[in-house]
Amino acid sequence: MINKKIKTKNKGHKPNKNKNEAKNKLQQMIKEELNLLTPEIIAWRRDFHQHPEIAFNEKRTQEVIYKFLQGLGLKVRPVAETGLVATIVGAQRGKTVALRADMDALPLEEEGDKPYKSLHRGAAHACAHDGHMAILMGAAKLITGLKNKLPGRIVLIFQPAEERPPGGAARIIGEGVLEGVEAIFGLHLWQPLPTGKIGLVKGAMMANSDEFTILVRGQGGHGSMPHQTVDPILVASQIVVNVQSIVSRNIDPLKPCVVSFGTIDGGTAFNIIPDEVRLRGTVRSFEADVQALAEKRLREIAEGTAQAFGASAYFEYKRGFPAVINHPKAVDFVIEVARQLFGENSLELINPVMGGEDFAYYLQKVPGAFLFFGAGDNCPYPHHHPAFDFDERALPAATLLMTSLALSYLLDQPF
Ligand code: NI
Repeated sequence: MINKKIKTKNKGHKPNKNKNEAKNKLQQMIKEELNLLTPEIIAWRRDFHQHPEIAFNEKRTQEVIYKFLQGLGLKVRPVAETGLVATIVGAQRGKTVALRADMDALPLEEEGDKPYKSLHRGAAHACAHDGHMAILMGAAKLITGLKNKLPGRIVLIFQPAEERPPGGAARIIGEGVLEGVEAIFGLHLWQPLPTGKIGLVKGAMMANSDEFTILVRGQGGHGSMPHQTVDPILVASQIVVNVQSIVSRNIDPLKPCVVSFGTIDGGTAFNIIPDEVRLRGTVRSFEADVQALAEKRLREIAEGTAQAFGASAYFEYKRGFPAVINHPKAVDFVIEVARQLFGENSLELINPVMGGEDFAYYLQKVPGAFLFFGAGDNCPYPHHHPAFDFDERALPAATLLMTSLALSYLLDQPF
């Protein structure tokens, strides 16, 4: 949670006046340039919105960004099939910081009549990743314009497949993109927050998001003669009910955990008791012991309940994205930069959320922070809703924040 009492860092020596003046001048240049760039950022976002592509199919998206980054004179290379990495090299030696945007859309049919509605059937940018790409392109252009005044390097990561585990982040890391990177920042435009508000949490901010499947095997037969069957629908129903005791009776009430079923599949006709029923669901947690206990109890309840009814249960548990753990120093740094840019009121006290995010993998390797950037004004539909939209007025401000995080990190070397 944001500690609003955190004081500006006092390093015990006089602030370097020249350095601050130079920084203020840079900020001024960025703001002027950003005003000119804002219509372009919105246009990029709308173009991506009209041409959504789901996980590892971001081919057109990749091409558009590739051409743009090449046009800036940057060295660009494809990564993780449909992702891209580009590096901006400053005039002097220095630190290396990475900024990341995710690229994929969701497999759903967009609702509503916005002028930039999806042109691809069955795909929609319903989570604002279109905005994330536009923000990072804007930051790329602003930073490239200033590279002669900068020390160090900025690595721009356009990452595919955030929405579908195992996701694009792990592959990007596997291809060596984080080599030499000393800090990383990423953001999510966030509908639950008012436009312009910035929320982040020290430590665990987003959850371990795991997936489980329970296959209940009984013995099918005629619906009129249940005594000749072992009914897997009844057993599956008992399992769903019994599992509710995991969070209420097994997990420490002060430690967050969610167990939810998402699908129940079984049967073909009203008068046939089927052979098997398949249940699928998700477990969300922040701590390793909670995660392990939920998995263990799910298995015990599934297998034990099935056995009690003469059926059998096959249990599979897949660990998904780990929890997003923000580095405390990186959070302090984001708060300080945001405060300087937008004032104290821009910071919002928030709780961690049970959603998952593969930015977690980067944070396992490199200190950094993931933050929510409010974009919810006049946007009533939540993320992943078919009519989701966000407030585009957040785009220039979020671009300014990402740009400033990179520049301030290189100039001030806060951690
Ligand atoms: Ni998202």
